[in-house]
Amino acid sequence: MPSFSNASVQDLPLHQDEAALPDILAAVLEESAHFLATLPQRRAGAQPPLAESLPPNHYRGGFVRGTSLAYDREFGEGRGALATLKHCIRRFDEVIVASSSPRYLGYVTGGVTPAALAGDWLASVYDQNPQGLRWFGDASGRIEYETIGLLRDLLGLPDTFHGGFVTGATMSNFTCLATARQWIGARDGADVAREGLHRPIRVYAATPHSSAVKVLGMLGLGTNSLVRVATLPGREAMDVEDLARRLDEHPGEASIVIASGGTVDTADFDDFRAIAALRERHTFWLHVDAAFGGFASLLPESADPGKDLFPGGRLRNWEDADSITVDNHKWLNVPYDSGTWFVRRTHEAHQVASFQNGNAPYLGNAGDQYNYLNLGPENSRRLRALPVWFTLRAYGKQGYQDIVTRCVAAAFSLGEKLAAHEHFELLAPVRLNVVAFTVKGGNQKLVDGLLQRLNDNGRYFLSPTFLNGKAGLRAAFVNWRISDRDVTWLFSELQHALLSETSPAPAPPPKP
Ligand SMILES: Cc1ncc(COP(=O)(O)O)c(C=O)c1O
Repeated sequence: MPSFSNASVQDLPLHQDEAALPDILAAVLEESAHFLATLPQRRAGAQPPLAESLPPNHYRGGFVRGTSLAYDREFGEGRGALATLKHCIRRFDEVIVASSSPRYLGYVTGGVTPAALAGDWLASVYDQNPQGLRWFGDASGRIEYETIGLLRDLLGLPDTFHGGFVTGATMSNFTCLATARQWIGARDGADVAREGLHRPIRVYAATPHSSAVKVLGMLGLGTNSLVRVATLPGREAMDVEDLARRLDEHPGEASIVIASGGTVDTADFDDFRAIAALRERHTFWLHVDAAFGGFASLLPESADPGKDLFPGGRLRNWEDADSITVDNHKWLNVPYDSGTWFVRRTHEAHQVASFQNGNAPYLGNAGDQYNYLNLGPENSRRLRALPVWFTLRAYGKQGYQDIVTRCVAAAFSLGEKLAAHEHFELLAPVRLNVVAFTVKGGNQKLVDGLLQRLNDNGRYFLSPTFLNGKAGLRAAFVNWRISDRDVTWLFSELQHALLSETSPAPAPPPKP
């Protein structure tokens, strides 16, 4: 018989840590407070080489940690949580970049509000597995249901949508498009989830995010099912007349249209109203990928520089969609990983048909109760709602209007400075919170060199782009801490980096 009271087991670090839990949490709190207090000094981009390739006892560290903390190659295992915490800091400190700081402007990377952090910590402490609204054990699905309501209110979406949390916009696109696939099958008298794809399904989009294309592959629709619709001149937004022409070529064939609520390079928006109006003549599922752009619904009209380009608001009629993607780890500033799907409630049966666990009687009957288990790709899941609930309760609509407004102002300010500079040019007008720019007359090599230099300096991190046949740099502003100062410093840093990149290195000192 195995024993539960083996004295030698009590000596194991796991059991000792149980008693030391308050000390462990206090140490983690101390490290967290230190990390966040020193965020402004930390590198924004990782600097290779990584610790493994450094000589023993060498430690370069971030700006702050200096060289005093040696990396213990002999650490091994089984030394308990406090020792492992120290080892973690020494081992990983230099690959942990200040991605939650406003100096990290690559991709579309949000920070973490204080309340979101509090909610995220508690999500780990509570360790719930949100499933149903009433369940034998865990009923935290109710928190998720309530939080979706808060998010819907923030974004001004009607109650005709229900929603749930997934890891990010990619999985939200997956959830929405799986439901679209099932809906199309049902119209044709097929059950795609059970039988597989019954026919090729055409998917129309002008400037879809790469993740939406990836999802077409994941869903068996095939990335080749994408029909590229033309864009408006000088824009990334869909030419709706071209969409109409293409739909006309296949009368009576149900399809999917993916509309952009914020393209990743120029933050352009499709005209959802005009697209939705085509449903008078055609049958299609309208999905809006508004991963970051959905939060532009919070931008007061007076602060919206695109108000002439988007009469009635850039998100006008997005509520006409069948499904919508938003990403919370972007402009909502909650920690990774958190995205939300919104699907019209009237499509719930198609969603359940796609995602229910058909062969597990212990999970209950999908029809009996509202259960996230049957509405999305994951079965077990973290309480992702809690950080969102915290930050929405803590800061409300006004708080988020402030964040969105400051980010847009920062993008415009940078755009103006670049446009006025003799050596830089914008690759597209700044429409919201994304600035795509390049060096006038520069080639790929110069742009790559500039980006590398800037990122190696460690104070800012930008990502590359390629637009209208030109290589460039891209800065996306979605961080709650953003201020004028960041823009001023970034601009000065850019000018210095360009100067260093284009000036010949100083001649070596003369030999004595
Ligand atoms: C419009 C859009 N859709 C989808 C994604 C993918 O998001 P995630 O990486 O959170 O899955 C992004 C990421 O930048 C995006 O901008």
